[in-house]
Order: sequence, then structure tokens, then C-alpha cells
Amino acid sequence: MEKKRVFKMAVMALLLFAFIGIPMVVEAGDAKKGEELVHGRPVANCVGCHHFPNIVMPSTIAPDLVDLMNNLYAEKDKEKLRQIVADANKFFPDTMMPSYGKGKLLIDKKKGEDKLSPEEQKKLIEKKIDDIVEYLYSLKKK
Ligand code: HEC
Repeated sequence: MEKKRVFKMAVMALLLFAFIGIPMVVEAGDAKKGEELVHGRPVANCVGCHHFPNIVMPSTIAPDLVDLMNNLYAEKDKEKLRQIVADANKFFPDTMMPSYGKGKLLIDKKKGEDKLSPEEQKKLIEKKIDDIVEYLYSLKKK
């Protein structure tokens, strides 16, 4: 009887953690989520054009982002990088890179995100761009 109660309490504590703990951890930019987006097909699929770590057949049609993150982009360039991901065309006219902040490329229909209001979708896209940028910065060798 006693053992059962202890077990129940442990389960409840775990559930509490799952519901309260997780939203508290994932605030601003979340590199782990960004990584999923970068590798995600069809949502962001940056790997379709750029080279990232742990890719079996790396694409070479666009600059190697591991290389760029280590040699070109410094901590102070975070905002610029956000803008590039949001609107690549502004920085590289006629680029084939999509402007992720403009269309609905980062909206995941499978998760029902297309059913959200336009304002919520906009916020979600901004958040996802933050996550992607955070992931890009995690590629820097420390
Ligand atoms: C369809 C191919 C394609 C996809 C998908 C793509 N890119 Fe690009 N990206 C490019 C190309 C090509 C360039 C080089 C700019 C140009 O067109 O000359 C570039 C440039 C960049 C740059 C600037 C590099 C520099 O020289 O300073 C960054 C940063 C970047 N991409 C990040 C991303 C991220 C993050 C994603 C995913 C969210 C992504 N790209 C998806 C093709 C792509």
C-alpha cells in the first residue's frame, strides 16, 4: 500500500514537471528546435542547399554554414543573421534561398499550424527563425 502511494506521487511529480517545466525551458531561441527545423522536410529544409554537421550527403549548392558560422558571423551579427533567414532576397538579390519570414514555409500543416490566426502564425514564424538562428550559433566551435 505504502509503496503504491510513493509511486503515485512520483508519477504526479513527473507529470507536473512535464507540464510546467518544459514551457519554462523553451523561451526565446531554442537551438534544439532550430536544429529540427533546419533538418526538417518539408518545413525549413536548409539542408537541401547548405552543408550542416551529421549529414550523409551534404549539399554543396549553397555556402557551408558551419564554415560561415565559424569564420564570418560573430555574436554581434545575430540580428543580421535573423534578417537573412527572414528575407534572404533583400541581401542576395535573385537568390534561390527562400525568404522564410515572408511566406508560410515555416508553418507546419501536419501540426495544424495553418489553422492558427494570421497573427499567431506570424509570431510562430518569428519564434522559429529565432530557434534556427540559435541553432546556427550552436555550430560555432567553442
Ligand atoms: C533552395 C536553396 C536554399 C535553402 C533551402 C536555404 N538556403 Fe540559405 N542560401 C542559399 C544560397 C544559394 C545562398 C547564397 C546567397 C546567394 O544566393 O548568393 C544562401 C545564403 C545563406 C546565408 C548567408 C550566407 C553568407 O554568405 O553570408 C545564410 C545565413 C543562410 N543561407 C541560411 C539558411 C538557413 C538557416 C536556411 C534554412 C532555414 C537556408 N539558408 C535555406 C540557398 C538556400
